Amino acid sequence: MWGASVSTHQVEGGNHNQWSVWELEMAQQHASSAKDRYGHLSNWTEIKDEASKPENYVSGRAAGHYKNYEADFDIAQKLNLNSLRSGIEWSRIEPEEGKFDAQALKHYREYFFSLKERGITPVVTLWHWTFPEWFAKKGGFVKRRNVRFFTRYVKYIANEIGIELDYIITVNEPTVYTTMSYFEKRWPPQHGSMVDSLRVLINLAYAHKKCYRLIKKVMPSSQIGLAHNCSYFYSKDREPLPRLFVYISHKLGNEFFINRVRRYQDFLGVNYYFANRFIGTKIDNSAFPVNDLGWPMQPDKLGPLLILLSEKYKKPILVTESGVADAKDTHRKWWISESVKSLQFARKNGVSVLGYIHWSLLDNFEWAEGFWPRFGLIEVDYNTGKRTVRKSAQWYSALIKKLGADRE
Ligand code: BGC
Repeated sequence: MWGASVSTHQVEGGNHNQWSVWELEMAQQHASSAKDRYGHLSNWTEIKDEASKPENYVSGRAAGHYKNYEADFDIAQKLNLNSLRSGIEWSRIEPEEGKFDAQALKHYREYFFSLKERGITPVVTLWHWTFPEWFAKKGGFVKRRNVRFFTRYVKYIANEIGIELDYIITVNEPTVYTTMSYFEKRWPPQHGSMVDSLRVLINLAYAHKKCYRLIKKVMPSSQIGLAHNCSYFYSKDREPLPRLFVYISHKLGNEFFINRVRRYQDFLGVNYYFANRFIGTKIDNSAFPVNDLGWPMQPDKLGPLLILLSEKYKKPILVTESGVADAKDTHRKWWISESVKSLQFARKNGVSVLGYIHWSLLDNFEWAEGFWPRFGLIEVDYNTGKRTVRKSAQWYSALIKKLGADRE
């Protein structure tokens, strides 16, 4: 599969969930602290105006993808993409506790149907960090007994969607969510502790397993997994201490969560953005170029990461996200090209690679950073809604065509 990804809250527009409520509460504070947070970035003068406005931090209309999806799919099809990772927004399906919105369900049925009609395989995410406010008020995933609300929503989808879903991702990046929302307290609900953070992680593993079982009953041929954020850890030299740090980081960061759900995955979904190089006992990525968010870029480490995961878990792997914040489109082509080379290297080393799904199809709402980071293959003008295909996307499209032709 050659694809691209979006998530509901980041592109749909018009959502009302625990995130949209929090955005409004925080917008002013986020805007006035922009310099503290981004002043160190080399592109600060370019992003300053946008990042200092409260509107940047409110998802609002976003890219308007909820209404405009047909046109977006037309572009995806023209770009030769044969898969699209997108999702279902729980807060639209069940805006009030126990009351399911048939219109919202119909929307998603048509949405996935419309993708399939274009020969694009949907990879469907059931939860990408946002949920209805009533669920937040009950304490969200901190409480084990709340998991039943999530599984009830998933059961409703499985029973009622009325269209075969070939690939399903139950939850997106559990470890990132728990770290940001319950440990570092940078995302809603911004409270908690190490203990709560662990509790949420364990409850998400439990939720995944329950969903896996219940979806399999209704849609036995669906391939079910989750999207896990993994980094590749390595050391600059072969000294024992940094190698021990690499070992521990890989175990905790990459394997801990997968180990809890390993028998409940048809494939491993891997979101890849980072590699971390240890020099001594410290991570030092200063040798690598950075993207607009200041994240060091090492796309060539994707393959080595997949080799490790494949050797341990012996499952096919789908790269469910991988990409760069790059408003000027200077790094994206290089990122994709290096990623594909690295995937070829992984395949030669025995990894069964199901596909590469780039983040993102469209520019989107980048959570607490708001709209200024630009991840899209397609640029979105937020004033007019206009879409412009970036040069790197044209190049990706030609590459997909060529790789397809080489196989025939
Ligand atoms: C998330 C996306 C996010 C992307 C870039 C991933 O961790 O799943 O929602 O936009 O990273 O930060």
